[in-house]
Amino acid sequence: MPTLIIVGAQWGDEGKGKVVDHFAAHADMVARYQGGNNAGHTLVVDGERTVVHLIPAGVLHPGTTCVLGNGVVIDPRVLCEEIEGLQARGYLTDPTQLRIDERAHVILPVHCMLDQAREKSLGERAIGTTGRGIGPCYEDKAARRGVRMVDMLDPRYFRDSVHKILSERGPLLRLYGEEPPTIDAICDEYAVYADRLRPYVTDATIVVSEHIAAGKRILFEGAQAAMLDLDHGTYPFVTSSNTVAGVVGSGAGVAPKHVGRVLGIAKSYTTRVGAGPFPTELEDDVGAKLRHVGGEFGATTGRPRRCGWFDAVVVRQAARLSGLSGLAITKLDVLSGIDPLKIAIAYDWDGQRFDRVPASVPALTQSRPVYEELEGWSEDLRGVRRFEDLPATARTYISRIEQLTGTPVTLISVGAEREETILLRDPFLL
Ligand code: IMP
Repeated sequence: MPTLIIVGAQWGDEGKGKVVDHFAAHADMVARYQGGNNAGHTLVVDGERTVVHLIPAGVLHPGTTCVLGNGVVIDPRVLCEEIEGLQARGYLTDPTQLRIDERAHVILPVHCMLDQAREKSLGERAIGTTGRGIGPCYEDKAARRGVRMVDMLDPRYFRDSVHKILSERGPLLRLYGEEPPTIDAICDEYAVYADRLRPYVTDATIVVSEHIAAGKRILFEGAQAAMLDLDHGTYPFVTSSNTVAGVVGSGAGVAPKHVGRVLGIAKSYTTRVGAGPFPTELEDDVGAKLRHVGGEFGATTGRPRRCGWFDAVVVRQAARLSGLSGLAITKLDVLSGIDPLKIAIAYDWDGQRFDRVPASVPALTQSRPVYEELEGWSEDLRGVRRFEDLPATARTYISRIEQLTGTPVTLISVGAEREETILLRDPFLL
């Protein structure tokens, strides 16, 4: 079955974009099925950086159809900017390369305003959202008053829908001291986006089904990661969509029988942006070094990322929840020169040992990682292309991750460039 789902196995920012880009060259389609422009991929090709937030990372390969599935939430302003930016650089010249599902929900300015106003009012208790309106948009979807792409294309229906949302959200925004935009302002602005995006909007579930029926290779590109999943993550410090692999079913209209392999992406250490429990966080020189050498600043918000040791408890949990058939370990080069290295193998909460991530926020916050120490290496790994050429200690580190997570490592990334990659097995063939 030539489908491959790619999901984050930690708290996001694992380098999914680079891995998707790597396999997109051999894929006929790359589809997103959840999240929105809270995600951000930095793609580095020939030294040139391209950041995409909404459009799948496969867009740099002209023969690859890109899909934004119905489960994605779309800020049309951001999407238009992204399309124009890519076109200006010679990408996405054929509109049929991008298919946007007509049932995908639309982010309105009130969603962004509400997201930011709430976070501000929460002060120290804020979740640290990206402020992109993701949560409020999914809330309106669940409350059955959301606006979908197809609705945006119909001016009269759009106006009615916006009216409904403004009647609910306007008074709330005023409570936060914010004045919502007028219905005319929103309708005028979105009419422009509707015209620009119309050629791309379709029933994308049909396009996906046709690709599946024709036996084409499809990559499903997950955004965020297991620990940010609305149900399975470190709730309430999570995003507002489900992120585990099973969501491909509802978010792109794919039946379970068509879903094949799942590749999880994990950094060789751990990072997190925003607030919430992070058992292996390092607030010392090692943490600062990881941030500096790894360039750990958010692609979407520019925020410094919190850094810590590799947490096998987290990745093992992600492997179980998404049924990972393989693991890609990214940024192994960043660990060069750190000795010894540590991996969390379990948590200790007041004398109680946890081999899984506890659901209780107090338990997770107060848990102390049980570490195993491994010998580091000092060599620069960026030129390495074969597993056998890695220093022995780096090979041991990877093997230990495989044992602790019960998942074979299929790819190792040793630098930001596309070719700075060690491929061990083709994940489509696992
Ligand atoms: P939201 O998705 O903007 O509502 O943010 C909720 C939480 O998810 C915050 O902690 C964000 O920092 C985090 N988050 C959302 N998207 C990403 C991502 O792509 N990478 C890493 N963290 C993310």
